[in-house]
Amino acid sequence: MAKLIVVSNRLPVSVTKRAGEVQFHRSPGGLATGLASVFESHEGFWVGWPGMASERLTDEDKSEISSKLMVERYHPIFLGRKEVENYYEGFSNKTIWPLFHYFPRRAIYENRFWQTYKQVNERFCDEVIKVTEAGDHIWVQDYHLMLLPQLIRQKLPKAEIGWFLHIPFPSSELFRLLPWRGELLNGLLGADLIGFHTHDYVRHFLSSVCRIMGFEHTLGRLNIDERIVKVDAFPLGIDYKRYSEAPEQEAIQQEVKKIRQKVGDRKIIISVDRLDYTKGIIERLEAFDLFLSQNRQYRGKVTLIMVAVPSRTRVEDYEALRNKLEQLVGRINGELGMLGWIPVWYLYRSLPFERLTALYHAADVALVTPLRDGMNLIAKEFIAAKTDGRGVLILSEMTGAASELGEAVIVNSNNKAEIVAAIKTALEMPEKEQVERNRAMQSRLSRYDVSRWGKDFLSALVELRHLQQELSVRKLTGDIRQKLISDFDRGKRRLLILDYDGTLVGFTDKAEEAGPDKEVLGLLGELCGDANNEVVIISGRDKTTLGKWLGEVDATLIAEHGGWIKRKGKDWKCVVELREDWKETIRPILELYADRTPRSAVEEKDFSLVWHCRRADPELAYLRAQELKGALMNLIANLDVGVFEGSKILEVRHVGINKGRAAKLWLEKENWDFILAAGDDYTDEEMFAVMPEEAYSIKVGSSMSKSRYNVETVDEVRQLLKELAGV
Ligand code: UDP
Ligand code: G6P
Repeated sequence: MAKLIVVSNRLPVSVTKRAGEVQFHRSPGGLATGLASVFESHEGFWVGWPGMASERLTDEDKSEISSKLMVERYHPIFLGRKEVENYYEGFSNKTIWPLFHYFPRRAIYENRFWQTYKQVNERFCDEVIKVTEAGDHIWVQDYHLMLLPQLIRQKLPKAEIGWFLHIPFPSSELFRLLPWRGELLNGLLGADLIGFHTHDYVRHFLSSVCRIMGFEHTLGRLNIDERIVKVDAFPLGIDYKRYSEAPEQEAIQQEVKKIRQKVGDRKIIISVDRLDYTKGIIERLEAFDLFLSQNRQYRGKVTLIMVAVPSRTRVEDYEALRNKLEQLVGRINGELGMLGWIPVWYLYRSLPFERLTALYHAADVALVTPLRDGMNLIAKEFIAAKTDGRGVLILSEMTGAASELGEAVIVNSNNKAEIVAAIKTALEMPEKEQVERNRAMQSRLSRYDVSRWGKDFLSALVELRHLQQELSVRKLTGDIRQKLISDFDRGKRRLLILDYDGTLVGFTDKAEEAGPDKEVLGLLGELCGDANNEVVIISGRDKTTLGKWLGEVDATLIAEHGGWIKRKGKDWKCVVELREDWKETIRPILELYADRTPRSAVEEKDFSLVWHCRRADPELAYLRAQELKGALMNLIANLDVGVFEGSKILEVRHVGINKGRAAKLWLEKENWDFILAAGDDYTDEEMFAVMPEEAYSIKVGSSMSKSRYNVETVDEVRQLLKELAGV
């Protein structure tokens, strides 16, 4: 049975050593909490670091740790002090973490961090390979392991690999600041499925891939090295049942009582995070301070319980944050506190599930205001624990969770006045409204919980694999290719219908200007020289260009997708009545878009007008193409033309003209005993659609098509034609 191999920097259990004793603790953070329950329900291993530099561990410690962790199916990777310093504290937490959370000025670009990051990713790769067998699902987690998918792919080309990012993926404008941006993207593109919390992060990633690597996507799918890579959003959920059922437990009710005894009948606001500068804890506290100064009536009536979980304490920025926070808490409590009332009740520790859930349940308001956060599970857990529906969530719009929790009081975490106003709104919100808002969020969270998240990701990974297999079955290789060649050899009357651009020649600026190279002309010459072959070149190009380039070849030429036909040795003939009156209406709008989109242009042919955007900025081109399509649709209603979207073009042409119709003329001409049709873009689909079952129809490129087979490149088409021509 296929196993699940989870790989993350940190295992869900971390180790510390005190007074010579090894101790085991639950790891902090959303990744560990979220994934642990998904992992439980699968066979397999979790590969990761137990969270302590190995120099402080003896060999006996290590074997004790390994054997204890192996009981839980955790496979530890021990990292040395230097590795921890440069890979974990350095590249992961001083370079990627600040940059991806929109703190570019905190990001440090150090070559030694990068070198160690590469080495540690390689070590992870070796360990993953040790525990992986054919058919297993490998699921790599987070920003510490961005090179790992490609490293695994190199060693196990057929492996099924997913990667999920638990933090934001920043705008491409920020991502491109990284000196090693190309290497990181290349590392990720070794995966089959790449997942993010939100659609925005998906957009940012795809835009970085397009701008930095030049790969464009179709509906989140990229074609890389004959593989499909899918990019999609999978918002991480929580174990909803666990949090919503917990308040009924006796132990938790006792905890709630204890909290109430300490706070009395004051309102409780909670603030719970790992102590991290991305969480906006200082800003939040300043807002609370301001709230108390502007709303004196609340002094003595409300307590802020602030839980700061120790995190990355050896990274300077985190240590500085702790000092600053503790001074601020001290100042607020000192200045505003009164006998019997401390405004901020501060805890610097991690709370176990029972105490944390009791806190959620007891609180009137949760103040969750990160400056940036990939998701934020605290917000979701708070809502789930509100069994009676009462309580108000104040949530920063800079969190991934905000896109799912629209009924919360949403704030801009940089706007202190807005947070102050939100606190007041929350404290004064009628109970009925609180319940209405929370019930809506609860029903959403209970449906898309963590197990659904895990299932969705893993089934998308498996589906993708099926698609890859389907496509590989369609590949024109091995026996199928051999059969094509022997059918050709046996054939007495053979029809070859070949598209030109993207099939016989690649799309390059040079080809657009210079026309066909010698090799392709020679090849066509050989094929046409055999009296048993009927060669038809079918193109969207205008007849003058096609005639100039291929006029010497003894083939039939079809220009403008079938508008013009030039039989061997004859002149061009128009297939349908040539009408151009519609062009006056359409031309100005295409020209307007050409002016608005740098490096795009309008081409005029007899039967069509084409807006070309191959050389324009890909994202702008995509956007403009959609706008232009909309504008054209309104204009063509009473004209006898259609709008066709192709690879980097938008074409307006007569509706009756298409490659399918043109190809049919040749199919019906004779009783062929061998037919081959090759093409690469959407216009060729019309040709594939009319092919008889026994025809060899071949699409160049790896996407699904109406053709029977796929080849990857123009070179493969040429190689095949060479073999058919016997050259
Ligand atoms: N958490 C905990 N004890 C605490 C504080 C937090 O167990 O005292 C858990 C909490 O239940 C949540 C996770 O830590 O599941 C924090 O995840 P979140 O996504 O909010 O933030 P991250 O730390 O991953 O940035
Ligand atoms: C975030 C990251 C996790 C990380 C966690 C705790 O949630 O996405 O990958 O494990 O913070 O941080 P730490 O550095 O202690 O592992």
